[in-house]
Amino acid sequence: MNKVYIETYGCQMNVADTEVVFSILGKAGYVRCETIDEADIIMANTCSIRDNAEQRIWGRIDYFQTFKKHHPELIVGILGCMAERLKNALIESGKVDIVAGPDAYRSLPQMLSDCRSSGSQINVLLSREETYAEIEPVRLDRNGVSAFISIMRGCNNVCSYCIVPYTRGAERSRDWKSIIREACQCSQNGYKEITLLGQNVDSYQYEDMSFAGLLKAVAEAVPGVRIRFSTSNPQDISDEMLEVMASHDNICHHIHLPVQSGSDRILEKMRRRYTRQWFLDRVAKIRELIPDCAITTDVIAGFCSETEEDHKDTLRIFEEVSFDAAFMFYYSERPGTLAARKYPDDVDLATKTRRLEEIIALQNRLSLESNQRDLGKTFTVLVEGPSKKNPEELCGRNSQNKMCVWPDTVHKAGDLVTVKVLECTQATLLCQEVK
Ligand code: SAH
Ligand code: SF4
Ligand code: F3S
Repeated sequence: MNKVYIETYGCQMNVADTEVVFSILGKAGYVRCETIDEADIIMANTCSIRDNAEQRIWGRIDYFQTFKKHHPELIVGILGCMAERLKNALIESGKVDIVAGPDAYRSLPQMLSDCRSSGSQINVLLSREETYAEIEPVRLDRNGVSAFISIMRGCNNVCSYCIVPYTRGAERSRDWKSIIREACQCSQNGYKEITLLGQNVDSYQYEDMSFAGLLKAVAEAVPGVRIRFSTSNPQDISDEMLEVMASHDNICHHIHLPVQSGSDRILEKMRRRYTRQWFLDRVAKIRELIPDCAITTDVIAGFCSETEEDHKDTLRIFEEVSFDAAFMFYYSERPGTLAARKYPDDVDLATKTRRLEEIIALQNRLSLESNQRDLGKTFTVLVEGPSKKNPEELCGRNSQNKMCVWPDTVHKAGDLVTVKVLECTQATLLCQEVK
């Protein structure tokens, strides 16, 4: 009765958390299984960021019920942000036995045994201290090349549209010594790439250690490992951090810098604490210090009261920055957030969708142009494995996080290969190896 299957939804933080959960459960005698039908315990580590993310998980919860017919003892658990947001409503659905919020994972073994003896269990307490600092995650990365390390939890920003501060609680930074230890362990275990994770990495602060200091310390502790990080907030990204990036060869030249909107009026309503000009100045600084740095972004179309003019401001900032890639969404009202309480969700769905499509069409062109600028360049690529389309080809990412594909039957996951870009699509650089 101890086989656990976990599905993970949402952001990279959830992927990292699932690895922590497997570690906690492993120590308590549970074993991981890879398919649902062998499981005694099915869990979903969930996301609440947009309504459709939650709808998808309700669909999964219904699907999990079908396994209860053949396995009446089966336990269904909901972890993560949706557990935190919906709390008892999940238990009351009659379909969920365990509800554990993001700071409650240490109690999972106890909850599981209590569940067997006395029925459904819930723990959605948020903590001001929990960082799972000393827990050694069970790494789930398929190819053993790339590892996530959480450096902080929660968020103190309270952007008006966003549910994360409610589902993940107050921001807290993890002891930098435990981060360095984990990075060294990853390196010893053969990992070639580490991504430092936080909702707002630039506000990392543990005692005297800032994010710039931490990034430098990690890069120097594991010189043979590539370092990435996500997410940067335009209001907090510091010159000092950019200088650390510029002066360390193993820190990748990629910054994920969510803009959300190009309109100052909308940015203010979103409670993003920067203006369009501030954003453009940060981009200029990045390009001054790290000329080949890729910049990617997130954007929300159709936020409350957004006019056609505001939308055009967003299209214009995309054009001005020429992002290398973007995650693009239309606004989804989240109950309990400031925006839900204060502003009507008044852009109709057809308009939201149309504006989103316009942004996507523009970004598709910008992504293609960005890739075209790389034609003829050479890059060092970290091999992830065979390409999806052709087993005679390998794929991997360059420092700028662009996907490269090239014919190769010699190298393997984890190798560094030098390639030259011959052709491209909007999503991929088609390369050949340079020997
Ligand atoms: N901490 C990160 C973002 C985490 S959420 C940051 O501040 O940049 C990832 C993305 O989801 C956000 O950047 C935003 O673009 C989008 N998002 C968040 N709340 C949303 C909502 N209510 N509707 C639509 N998209 C949303
Ligand atoms: Fe949400 Fe803003 Fe925090 Fe990002 S910084 S997680 S968008 S509240
Ligand atoms: Fe989703 Fe929670 Fe991440 S809401 S995006 S899983 S922090």
